[in-house]
Amino acid sequence: MKSIPEAPSGPFGTVFGDSFSVVEWANGAWGEPRIGPIEPFSFHPATHVLHYGSACFEGLKAHRGIDDVVRIFRLERHVERMQQSARVLRLPVPDTDLLSKMIVDTVTDNTHLVPASPGSLYIRPTLIGTEPNIGAAAAPSKTALLYVLPSPVGDYFKGGIRPLKVKVETEQPRSTPAFGSVKTGANYAMALGITLDAKAELGIDQVLFAPDGDVQETGASNFLLLRDKEILTKGLNSSFLHGVTRDSILTLARDMGYQVHERDFTVDEMIEWADDGEAALSGTAAVLGGVGSMIVDGEEIVFGSGDVGPTTLELRQALTDIHVGSAEDRYGWTTAVES
Ligand SMILES: Cc1ncc(COP(=O)(O)O)c(C=O)c1O
Repeated sequence: MKSIPEAPSGPFGTVFGDSFSVVEWANGAWGEPRIGPIEPFSFHPATHVLHYGSACFEGLKAHRGIDDVVRIFRLERHVERMQQSARVLRLPVPDTDLLSKMIVDTVTDNTHLVPASPGSLYIRPTLIGTEPNIGAAAAPSKTALLYVLPSPVGDYFKGGIRPLKVKVETEQPRSTPAFGSVKTGANYAMALGITLDAKAELGIDQVLFAPDGDVQETGASNFLLLRDKEILTKGLNSSFLHGVTRDSILTLARDMGYQVHERDFTVDEMIEWADDGEAALSGTAAVLGGVGSMIVDGEEIVFGSGDVGPTTLELRQALTDIHVGSAEDRYGWTTAVES
């Protein structure tokens, strides 16, 4: 009988699969993707992405089901979001078939490395501008590289399901307003210093960005307020990433009879939820993580009992049941791969 690998115990994203898929774009066309051992690239020092940030990426997962079948979660949505990021960054937009096939082929070639749940195979499609040209600040790269990197992972947050501590940043936005919904490195660079400073000062897990009181998202997750059969989360606009997990949780919640409100809300309104409500972070990496407390203007606000709340756990379970095939995939969200 074949053995199922353990989830890596090291930090999320530091262990990689055996092989990855790569394709070049030149002269206005994509080449033939190839799959082979993961190895370093060699770039000219003038490469466009190194100077002008011409890069976007995706983050999705393949899960090992209770029936041992490996399934990719919401492949189509992630492909669409990557295409949208590429469009905004004026990078060549990968064809749906090409990118989907590269992702499926990469997972298929690495199925033996997919750990059992709560572990999974994190998949990182990446697109970069490769033209060697330091004069192209205002021009798109004439060449590009697309690759799909697999990484077996365990839990994103150390300690598994535990209440998270979040600092609310009420001045700085997470990214520039027009770029928030694009998955590009500069957005993460912008949040980094603020998050590191808050971690060092307050020992928090994440920063929730709420410029001028407008609650957006954290450095790598969307944000939801929950209570019995009710959810409040920011309505989609270009200031934050349109999470696939957010969409999945809202879809499940609606079908489970929740009232879902998608609209702007303020830090003051958020604090009002603390007594009888819950707060949670949603994302492919974090799944649905419960917030135990928040630091707002130096004051600690505890949500509910300070533990991960029952609504968060109920919705998290509904989602992970689909990931691992223990609940019916009524939405056609999963793509099974051959192993
Ligand atoms: C900034 C940011 N917001 C939200 C999310 C959640 O998105 P998703 O649920 O598609 O993983 C992510 C995850 O990658 C993220 O980096």
